[in-house]
Amino acid sequence: MRMILSKPIRRKGNTMWRYILTTTLVAFVGLTVCGCDKGGATDANGNEKVKIGFLVKQPEEPWFQNEWKFADEAAAKYGFDVIKIGTPDGEKVLTAIDNLAAKGAKGFIICTPDVRLGPAIVDAAKRNDLKLFSVDDRFIGSDGKPMKDVHYMGISARKIGNMVGKALAEEMKKRGWKAEDTAAMGIGLQELETARERIEGATETLVAAGFPKDKIHIGQVTGMADVNNAFNAADVVLTQHRDVKNWLVFGMNDEAVLGGIRALEGRNVGVDRTIGVGIGGSTGKGDWEMEKPTGFFAAVLISPRHHGYMTSEFMYKWITEGKEPPMTTFTDGILINRDNYKKIMKEQGLLD
Ligand code: GLA
Repeated sequence: MRMILSKPIRRKGNTMWRYILTTTLVAFVGLTVCGCDKGGATDANGNEKVKIGFLVKQPEEPWFQNEWKFADEAAAKYGFDVIKIGTPDGEKVLTAIDNLAAKGAKGFIICTPDVRLGPAIVDAAKRNDLKLFSVDDRFIGSDGKPMKDVHYMGISARKIGNMVGKALAEEMKKRGWKAEDTAAMGIGLQELETARERIEGATETLVAAGFPKDKIHIGQVTGMADVNNAFNAADVVLTQHRDVKNWLVFGMNDEAVLGGIRALEGRNVGVDRTIGVGIGGSTGKGDWEMEKPTGFFAAVLISPRHHGYMTSEFMYKWITEGKEPPMTTFTDGILINRDNYKKIMKEQGLLD
């Protein structure tokens, strides 16, 4: 485009065209960059639709795709628009918030890529007059403590961790594994409160069931808790503990457990020597869709419907009716496995 416009204009008639082209281009670029295009879809009565942002840290993860899917369901029911933006770092979060305001959004829901961005996100929301609701990962204030004055929905992390620990202990007993032959590996994300609570919950229930505490080894993911990063964290743990026969694997989400299981498989520790229990369900079920069973034994299915639909509904009613949502909401989970996941996930609207 720049080349065409900078070509020497030989004929007089072209000058006018160049002027029109240039002004159109400048106007277009200006509009796009400042994002001043506030015009949007209208509802059945011709009123402009309410716009709500939904920002997530890992748009490629099934959990977050499901949150978006259920946010869209709420949008279809109430007739608002959801602006879905993947924001894997702080820079993208702040740009997205400014863009939302420029587009005329009235509020947004966010799972932040870094909980320490909390105060900056609160400031950006205030500056742009946007309502704010945080989901999944709770903001940390400048004092290092959870920001309890920001609306939040998260999973009942400790309780769900307890369910994981119980499932592991029960399956170990069923298989008749001896304590001296067995160790447990938990893959967490140190800076995330919800991750720490999930790991602590699983650990305390294993210990309460008689599992030796000194045989529970925790690995920490660097960066996002995806399968690759979890694999690397697990590899460190496995290198430190080479002589273990059987492994129990838990983690902050399905991805963390899958990383652990893949690392074990890489060391020829397979399904007969591994019991893995995830948190999530939607990523882990990939292993159940494979013909040959893997060490991914069970998962606590958590609810992207609540985290996507309900948060969007809260936000919509807050904007349109002034009804403030509860400050904190904690959601439950259901234990699923290879045998019953299809039925339960169908009932939860997660499978067709
Ligand atoms: C965190 C994890 C996700 C998912 C959500 C659930 O954000 O990274 O994988 O478990 O919590 O709230």
